[in-house]
Amino acid sequence: MYILGLTTLGDSAATLIKDGEIVAAAEEERFSRRKHHSGFPYNAMQYCLNEAGIGIADVGHIGLYWKPWVLRHKALQALKSAVISRDMFKARVDRGVAQVGESYLGMLRHPRRIREHFGNSDFKFHFLEHHQCHAASAFFVSGFDQSAIMTWDGTGEDTTTLFSRGDDRRIHRLKRIKLPHSLGQFYSAVTNYLGFDMFEGDEWKVMGLAAYGKPEYYDFFAKRVLSINGNHDFHVDIRVLDHHLAKYYQFSEALTSALGAPRAKGEELVEKHWNIAASAQKVLEDTALHLLSGLYEQAGSDNLCMAGGVAFNSVMNGRIMTETPFKRFYIQPAAGDAGCSLGAALLVWHSRLNQPRKFRMEHAYYGPGFSSEECAAALRAAGLQFQTLPDEQMLPRVAAMLAEGAIVGWFQGRMEFGPRALGNRSFLADPRRSDMRELLNKKVKLREWFRPLAPSMLEEAAEELFGHPHYDPFMITVLNVLEEKRANIPAVVHVDGTARPQTVSRHINPRYWQLISEFEKLTGVPLLLNTSFNVQEPIVLSPEDAIKTFSRASFDALVLENHIVHR
Ligand SMILES: [Fe+2]
Repeated sequence: MYILGLTTLGDSAATLIKDGEIVAAAEEERFSRRKHHSGFPYNAMQYCLNEAGIGIADVGHIGLYWKPWVLRHKALQALKSAVISRDMFKARVDRGVAQVGESYLGMLRHPRRIREHFGNSDFKFHFLEHHQCHAASAFFVSGFDQSAIMTWDGTGEDTTTLFSRGDDRRIHRLKRIKLPHSLGQFYSAVTNYLGFDMFEGDEWKVMGLAAYGKPEYYDFFAKRVLSINGNHDFHVDIRVLDHHLAKYYQFSEALTSALGAPRAKGEELVEKHWNIAASAQKVLEDTALHLLSGLYEQAGSDNLCMAGGVAFNSVMNGRIMTETPFKRFYIQPAAGDAGCSLGAALLVWHSRLNQPRKFRMEHAYYGPGFSSEECAAALRAAGLQFQTLPDEQMLPRVAAMLAEGAIVGWFQGRMEFGPRALGNRSFLADPRRSDMRELLNKKVKLREWFRPLAPSMLEEAAEELFGHPHYDPFMITVLNVLEEKRANIPAVVHVDGTARPQTVSRHINPRYWQLISEFEKLTGVPLLLNTSFNVQEPIVLSPEDAIKTFSRASFDALVLENHIVHR
């Protein structure tokens, strides 16, 4: 039985499962080349069908990640905001009218849209709750029979935080927190206050910057903006910091008199900005820990699954792993809304159709892949000279180039689902070089100097680096590097002595594992610097995308499967 899952607003995506196992999953942005693509994922859906070699008539069910008729709570919030200020009301209504007309009610036309575009079919269409889809995307692929589940994001239909418990094929809701109290919206509003852009997904920048600062403004944030209460709950005071006004870079007097004027886009980043980032980050972390202590009590499980955009906060995740009573963790690598397409398909399969669980998601390589011949054809079409080598020669050669300081665009196998490059669409470099982070950020990726870069490491080496075993194939948790190990790998250790590693298992990605091993043979260092293969655009999907990036950006060599091009 084939089931499709769809995400059709921001970060739109499609996932196809067969009998409960993922066949294909991809974000629309990779095809359209527009970051965070919003709109129906025609290309991603077509790709899923092609990957399985089926047509729409073979699909039994389609699950959508949203219930478009749940509008009442949002409308009520808009009305309530009118009491606070006219600007706030207007910001909500302007956005609300656009969303209801084009986006939400447009979803009701999806079944017809699909039949018109992909052909006739008698699939059954399911509208599913957003946070249930997030929860399903983590729990159903976690391998846990039962688990506590926390999902947190900007917002779903009305819910921003859902406490639930997974039991075999069911997800039971325990508690929900609704708008305007949203951890994701709080963090996005701070992102814009600091002169970045929430619509570009710049929340990463705030987290990166936070490591440089001290939480000097913690009390202000904790008392006036995002406060916790004794009931494992939290409260956002939108009179002080409002997400909708922040979208237009408007901030309350209460905020600017405490923190000063917001930073203008492009203005120099100074210590005060680092301190504001550090304060907001710490308030977020402390609130998260408070909520999770409540979830632990209510769910009665040592396992924790997480999804939703807030679960991308890898620094917060590090504290969750060390400071909560939970013992085992699963964080969905596509924690954002793209992952809801997977959750929607799985909800239909397990909860609606009551089918048993057997699948565990151990990797994210579910996107398009290209054969050696297709890569060679693309290189020839671009007029590039290349060498074709078997792995016994290719891997030692690339490892040696990296050890000598080269930056390599590395393209192999199927593309990753989710925002992280995990060794199949990656820029690779030597983690020992102290200038490598600046070189990559400034010269290759054309982005801010402070963005941390992360390592891909042999799974076996985790204990040596962190002092305890660690398993994270999805690069989603930040942890402390042993002090004596930091100096040797400066390019992948953040200013506060932490790193966000991907552990690479031999049985999951043997070729990438072998490449890192070759690098270890030469240098004694069992890891490589890994950052996503893209320059100011979505991660490359095809050989053509990789070649285009190679022609525009300054890095030293391009590897497409078993072909290598030197600059
Ligand atoms: Fe979401």
